[in-house]
Amino acid sequence: MINWQDLGKLHVVSKLEGILGKWFGVEMFYTDAHGKVWSDHTNKDYAFKSHFMKVQMQSAYGHDFLTEDIEKVVDQLAQGKDDVVVYQSYFKNVKGVAFPVKFEGEFAGAVFVYPFVMDTTTSAEMDELKKHMIECGTTPEDAAVACEKVKKMWPREMEYVRELGGLLAEEMMSFHEEISKRENQIHELSSQVGEKYRYHSMVGKSKKMQAIYALLEKISNSESSVMIQGENGTGKELVAKAIHFYSPRKDKMFLAVNCSAFNDNLLDSELFGHVKGSFTGAVKDKKGLFETANGGTLFLDEIGDTSLSMQVKLLRVLQEGTYLPVGATTPKKVDVRIVAATNKNLKEMMAKGEFREDLYYRINVINIGLPALRERHEDIPLLMEYFLKKRCDESGKAMKTYSKKCMEKMLDYPWPGNVRELENEVERLVVLSADEKTIGPENLSPRILDWGASAEPAFKGVNTEGTLKDALEQLEIMMIREGLKRCNFNKSKLAKELDISRASLIMKVEKYGLDKRTKAA
Ligand SMILES: Nc1ncnc2c1ncn2[C@@H]1O[C@H](COP(=O)(O)OP(=O)(O)OP(=O)(O)O)[C@@H](O)[C@H]1O
Ligand SMILES: [Mg+2]
Repeated sequence: MINWQDLGKLHVVSKLEGILGKWFGVEMFYTDAHGKVWSDHTNKDYAFKSHFMKVQMQSAYGHDFLTEDIEKVVDQLAQGKDDVVVYQSYFKNVKGVAFPVKFEGEFAGAVFVYPFVMDTTTSAEMDELKKHMIECGTTPEDAAVACEKVKKMWPREMEYVRELGGLLAEEMMSFHEEISKRENQIHELSSQVGEKYRYHSMVGKSKKMQAIYALLEKISNSESSVMIQGENGTGKELVAKAIHFYSPRKDKMFLAVNCSAFNDNLLDSELFGHVKGSFTGAVKDKKGLFETANGGTLFLDEIGDTSLSMQVKLLRVLQEGTYLPVGATTPKKVDVRIVAATNKNLKEMMAKGEFREDLYYRINVINIGLPALRERHEDIPLLMEYFLKKRCDESGKAMKTYSKKCMEKMLDYPWPGNVRELENEVERLVVLSADEKTIGPENLSPRILDWGASAEPAFKGVNTEGTLKDALEQLEIMMIREGLKRCNFNKSKLAKELDISRASLIMKVEKYGLDKRTKAA
């Protein structure tokens, strides 16, 4: 399924439409394979750049004449023989150019550039056109102005129109292809959620995640303590749980304590417990987490936030297997496995004396560094699918799908908040899309929807101000520079692609200094 509306919103489409309108006074519109116009040109109040087309569309049968032209051209392009067609429109001597848009080799629609007359059109022929327009129901005044203003296309300009129109058709094709590729990928991957790309409740198929699964698998029988490091929301707690639930201690307790949530005294009594009367409010003995977790796993989250004195106490438990409850005089024995996590750079903290080296090395027997989501881009579709299913199941809704545009936006976003941010966004999408089966981009958070809105690579930097010559040169430079990279500096190949002679490409490359050697120098 091709989403023409989304294609129309592509930045490059509006930019090229603007360039064609501004430079050549012509309209650019596009249709699907049935000739249905998907741009706004058939709207009553469309702001035409071509006065001729405006007059045409305001006349009684103008729309029908346009449809007739489109049908004729679409039929011709559908045969698949032409890459471009310069056609004669319903109106005498008025022409247009059309380019096929193909997806997976199949004709899917067309891009049109219309209307203009050739520079060779004589005044007698222009009079003929005026007469024809009047016969077709345009007032003599309107017909006169329309004929006067219609673009007279010079051969050189025609060349550029061909290039720009062709380029636009190509952009549409590659955009659609990219999106379908991603969709196929998701389809393929979602069938794999639950098998190879999962470990406990973690999902991810990237090499980095696979390496983590392999490591977790390897340590599943070990009793060593583990240090998990990673940015916020990268899944540190999930890893800690996976370690516990695949370990020999799985039938005992898994207890998590967030070290940053307590001040020193509270953390002390929280971890080690206290005896009655040891401080105001200690009305009876309290078991600490170490005792409760005995035989199991204690997860010390945010260990980088513990004070140096607390670090000494932790070290002692780890080294000697004993601790002293607050206010007690005899130490208690304990057997817990420690898994610790932090998003802080402990090495830096050690250098500054904020984290004890002995404790670090004692815990860091096994080190697991979790990658940020932006380093494992390929996991995004899988995670999106996973969270979507989870949310839909939980809320008793039928399984939804993401629209192409929504998917594209999610993939483009850099996810500073990592998996947690992604999960929250999916939850939001499921809620906001209510009963709709397909999740459109309009429900995305603004920061995701607007991300990179002004950074369209293909046309970034082309001026639509200034002289035509300068702007065309700029465009030439850009197309050649990009093309050379794409074709690996094979000039014959690029010349063919650009439909110019090899000699003229070489001249241009020299003129603009775009050769590889010059660049490397
Ligand atoms: N690989 C993953 N697969 C599925 N869900 C994940 C994955 N990684 C993280 N999550 C989910 O993302 C959220 C954040 O994960 P978690 O709490 O484990 O991260 P964290 O690193 O401990 O974050 P913080 O530093 O903020 O404490 C959780 O809801 C978790 O279920
Ligand atoms: Mg956490």
